[in-house]
Amino acid sequence: MRADLLDTWVGVTNAGGAVGFTAPAPVAAVERTLDAVLARVADGKDALGVLRGPHTTVGMGLLVNRDSDVCRHWRTVLRVMVHPRHQGAGAGVDLMRGLHQLARELGLEQLQLTVRDGHGLERFYERLGYAVVGRHPGAVRVAPGDDRDEVMLVASLGEAVESVPAAAVAASADTASMSQPRTNSTF
Ligand SMILES: CC(C)(COP(=O)(O)OP(=O)(O)OC[C@H]1O[C@@H](n2cnc3c(N)ncnc32)[C@H](O)[C@@H]1OP(=O)(O)O)[C@@H](O)C(=O)NCCC(=O)NCCS
Repeated sequence: MRADLLDTWVGVTNAGGAVGFTAPAPVAAVERTLDAVLARVADGKDALGVLRGPHTTVGMGLLVNRDSDVCRHWRTVLRVMVHPRHQGAGAGVDLMRGLHQLARELGLEQLQLTVRDGHGLERFYERLGYAVVGRHPGAVRVAPGDDRDEVMLVASLGEAVESVPAAAVAASADTASMSQPRTNSTF
C-alpha cells in the first residue's frame, strides 16, 4: 500500500498536479511527507481514503484534523489525487464521494479545502457541492515570478452531493453504526 501511494503521489507530481510539490518530484521528500501522513493516520488523528482498482491504488485523499476543540465538526480535505493513468474516467468523483461518506461516518458537518488557482480545480469541486469562500492572493510560489492564488472552498455535508458509489457503500456497511470512528478507509 505504501509503495502504491508513493507511486501515485510521485506520478501525479510529475504530471503537474497540485499536491504539495512541483515536478520533477523530489522522491525522498515525497516519501518523508507520505510517512508523516501515514503516522498521523496510524495515530488516529487524520483519516485516509484510498480508491482501489482491481490491481492497484487508483487515488487517495485525506481528512485532516485541525487538533482544535472548537473545530471538531469539520476537517480539511488534503492531498486529493488520482494516478495519471486513471484520470479523466470518473475516479476523482468516486474518490470524493467516498471521502464524503467517510466524513459523514466520522460525524463531520463540513469539509474545507484549498486549491491552487490556474488548474481549473474550482469547477471540479463546485460540482461536488463546494463553494468558494475565500482567496489568498499569491500564496503559492510555483516558480520565481509565478505566484498563484490559493482559493478556499467549503462544503456542508448536508448539501454536498450525491449518490455514493456501490464500492463505498460496501466498504462502510460493516461499520454503519460508527461507534468507533474509523481512521482510514478503502473505497
Ligand atoms: C483533480 C483530480 C483528482 C480529478 O480526478 P479525475 O479522475 O481526473 O476526475 P474525474 O474523471 O472524476 O472528473 C470528473 C469531472 O471533473 C472534471 N475535472 C477533472 N479534473 C478537473 C480539473 N483539474 N479542472 C476542471 N475540471 C476537472 C472532469 O472534466 C470531469 O468532468 P465531466 O464529467 O464533465 O467530464 C485529478 O485530476 C488529479 O489527481 N489531479 C492532480 C492532483 C490535483 O491537482 N489534486 C487536487 C488538489 S486540491
